[in-house]
Amino acid sequence: MQWSSLLALALGAGTVRAMLRFSCSELVIERLDPLVFPGDNPSPHLHQVVGGNAFNVSMDPENDLPGLSDCTTCTFTEDFSNYWTAVLYFRARNGTFHRVPQMGNQFLEQADGGMTIYYIQPYDGTKVTAFQPGFRMLVGDPNERTYTDSLESRQLSFRCFDANFGGEAGAPGTGADTRELPNRPCLGGIRSNIFFPTCWDGVNLDSPDHRSHVAYPTSGSFEMGGPCPSSHPVKIPQLFYETVWDTRAFNDPNEWPEDGSQPFVFSMGDPTGYGQHADYVFGWKGDALQRAMDANCNVMCPQLQSQDTSIANQCKQQRVVNEVVDGWVDELPGTNPITYV
Ligand SMILES: *[C@@H]1O[C@H](CO)[C@@H](O)[C@H](O)[C@H]1NC(C)=O
Ligand SMILES: *[C@@H]1O[C@H](CO)[C@@H](O)[C@H](O)[C@H]1NC(C)=O
Repeated sequence: MQWSSLLALALGAGTVRAMLRFSCSELVIERLDPLVFPGDNPSPHLHQVVGGNAFNVSMDPENDLPGLSDCTTCTFTEDFSNYWTAVLYFRARNGTFHRVPQMGNQFLEQADGGMTIYYIQPYDGTKVTAFQPGFRMLVGDPNERTYTDSLESRQLSFRCFDANFGGEAGAPGTGADTRELPNRPCLGGIRSNIFFPTCWDGVNLDSPDHRSHVAYPTSGSFEMGGPCPSSHPVKIPQLFYETVWDTRAFNDPNEWPEDGSQPFVFSMGDPTGYGQHADYVFGWKGDALQRAMDANCNVMCPQLQSQDTSIANQCKQQRVVNEVVDGWVDELPGTNPITYV
């Protein structure tokens, strides 16, 4: 579902406006993946990570993330979860790469990079069951290079911002989303949109592939009350990540490929965008997330404790992987080749 239609739904008559939307600033940019490659230092490709500062090379499901963290980069200070995605790079004509930084999202511009996190509830007011300690999941496949129209591939898209936030020409939050990276310069940046599954088997906090314990509605959309399959009967909040890549420094047409293709690649060597993916490790304190859901919080949530973005921006982690990821680099971190299939 697109943000514009989400907003229209959320504001529609007779619907319950219930959706947390908050920024989580950058915690660390690092080649670690405690979910898919626990213990591997480094893991295959670079990630951008937000949330509590107990993020680590390995993260045992038994870990008490609120207890192990001293700070979180998220607005809501009871949220010590970790959220991460791949990282975007620009490839210049001379073949060298430069990391594309993130920037604060619309209405959350003060955030130091990172991403915007949503926990969305069905608009018919159906109750959702918050995630439990030890819960984790992922969406997307770093090896994908084509659009398959699978339920999972429909959760991933991009928005080309034609103007800066607050600019006159063209509101940045409108326009059609694409499944692949936009093929034209986006004057206000590119936003990644990634939705997670919304049905849980009610038993397993994780699964070997980190996805089989969750599923999508059998028909319709989560927002409009689409039913969960009997194998995964428990409705969970719809987790949604938006990442705004600040491509504005990389829009010079003289630096774009001469064959008309677009110049951005994800850190796993994906020049298409179909391989974008996201990971989640739940880490809310106590029943804070369930309380927020039960209170039908919409964007703001007085039932939760929060911090100013300037404080959230100060929560940072030192990288433990010793490698250069910024400035002009000859290859993607981890020497990931660019692959088209
Ligand atoms: C990461 O894990 C190691 C090994 O258990 C531990 O020594 C270190 O303190 C952890 N780092 C953080 C930031 O939690
Ligand atoms: C490659 O191109 C970029 C962008 O023009 C430039 O800043 C960089 O210095 C170049 N690197 C080399 C090694 O020529």
